[in-house]
Amino acid sequence: MELSHGRSDFPEGFVFGTATSAYQIEGHAFGGAGPTHWDTFAATPGNVVRAENGARACDHYHRWAEDLDLVAGAGLDLYRFSTSWARIQPEGRGAANPEGLDFYDRLVDGLLARGLKPAATLYHWELPAPLADRGGWQNRDIAARFAEFTDVIMRRIGDRVWSAAPINEPWCVAWLSHFLGHHAPGLRDIRAAVRAMHHVLLAHGQAITAMRALGMRNLGAVCNFERALPADDSPAAAAATDRYDAVYNRFFLSGLFHGRYPDTVMEAFAPHLPVGWEADFDTIRAPIDWLGLNYYTCKRIAAAPGPWPALAEVPGPLPKTEMGWEIHPEGLEHFLTATARDFTGDLPLYVTENGMAAPDTRVAGRIEDADRIAYLDAHLAAVRRALAAGVPVRGYVVWSLLDNYEWALGYAKRFGLVHVDFESLQRTPKASYHALARALAR
Ligand code: FCB
Repeated sequence: MELSHGRSDFPEGFVFGTATSAYQIEGHAFGGAGPTHWDTFAATPGNVVRAENGARACDHYHRWAEDLDLVAGAGLDLYRFSTSWARIQPEGRGAANPEGLDFYDRLVDGLLARGLKPAATLYHWELPAPLADRGGWQNRDIAARFAEFTDVIMRRIGDRVWSAAPINEPWCVAWLSHFLGHHAPGLRDIRAAVRAMHHVLLAHGQAITAMRALGMRNLGAVCNFERALPADDSPAAAAATDRYDAVYNRFFLSGLFHGRYPDTVMEAFAPHLPVGWEADFDTIRAPIDWLGLNYYTCKRIAAAPGPWPALAEVPGPLPKTEMGWEIHPEGLEHFLTATARDFTGDLPLYVTENGMAAPDTRVAGRIEDADRIAYLDAHLAAVRRALAAGVPVRGYVVWSLLDNYEWALGYAKRFGLVHVDFESLQRTPKASYHALARALAR
C-alpha cells in the first residue's frame, strides 16, 4: 500500500520528521537518571496498565545509533526528541549528571552526522521526583527551576540543535495530570490544575528567555489540540463544548499570543489563579519563532450535571484507532486554519505529532499496518488543504518512530513506524515506515 502524497506535493523546504520522547524510549534505569514522578505514579496500584514503567523502555539509551539509522533510512529530514530533566539534573536542581549531558551530546552529533535536523523538546513529562515532592507544577518555583535546567542542557547542546521548544503539550502537563488525574501526578483537584495551567506557561516563558540569552534561534511551543464537537444540537451541549474547547484548545494560545485567558474559563479559574498572575504575561509572551500542533482526534461533548465544567465525553460514530480515538482528519485542517487566523498569523506552523495506535502483530517477519498508512495519508491530505488555503505550514512529524511506553497504557498501545519486540527489543520497520520512505523519495 502507498501513500498518495509524495514529497514533491509539498512546498520547497517543507520538512518531514518523526518524534519520540525521553521517558517513553530511553530506559530511565540507565545512565544515572534520577527518579521521576512517572516512576512514582506507575508504582502506585491502578494507575498504569500492568504497572509498567520506563525503567528499560526501548533501551534507546544504548541503541540510539541504530534508532537514528532508522530515522535517516526513512529519508526523513528531522527528528523530534526530548531531553529528560531527571537524567540531566537527578535532584531537579543544581549539579548536572555528566553521563546525561554526554548522552544528549552524542545524540545531537549523531543526528547531524546523519544529515538530520535535531528538534529538541526540553520537557516531555518526566518531572524529577524531588521537585514533585515540593509540589511540582503547583509550585511557582518550578518556573525558575525549569529555566535553570534549560540553561544547563542548552549550554551543552544549544549550539547544534535546529529548533527547541520548552514544554510538550501543556494541557497534558496541567489538566490531564492535575484535574482528570490520568497522568502523573494523578491529582483530581481544580486548584492544583489551574495553578499548573498557569505555571506551565510561566516556565515556558522563562525557558524561552534563558535560551535567547544563550543566543539560540528557532524557538517554539508545542501544544496539543482535540476537535471538540457537540454531542447533540442542544444549546447546553454547545455551551459544554465551548468549555471543553476553551480549556483544551484556547487557554494556552490565548496566554501565549494574546496575553490573557479565555473568558469562558475565568468563571471557574479566577479563584485559583496565583496572586499576581496577570503580571506574568510579559514573560509568557516572550516572542517565539514557530508553533507546533499535536493532533490525533476529536471528542463529542455533552452537558452533564455537577460542578464546572459540567460536561461528559460520549462515544462518536467515526472509525476508531486502538486508543478508541475517532479518526477525524478534518480537525487537523481546522486547527491549522483557525490557529493562523485567530492567533499566529504568518508565524510558521508545524504538525509536531500525528499518528495512531494499532495492534500491529508481526507475521512472518512483516508488519502490515495498512490502517496507519491510511491514517497518515488522510492527515497529510488535511495538511495540503490547509496549505492550499494559505496557512504557513512548514512541516509534518509522525508520532512515533518506535513503539514505546504509552504512559498510563503501558506498552500495550503501539504508535511506531517501527515495531519493537519488548522481549528481545528487536526493531522491525512496519509497512508504514516503508511507504513513508517511498513517498519521501518521490
Ligand atoms: C501525545 C504525547 C505522546 C504520546 C502520544 C500518543 O499526547 O505527546 O507522548 O503519548 O500522545
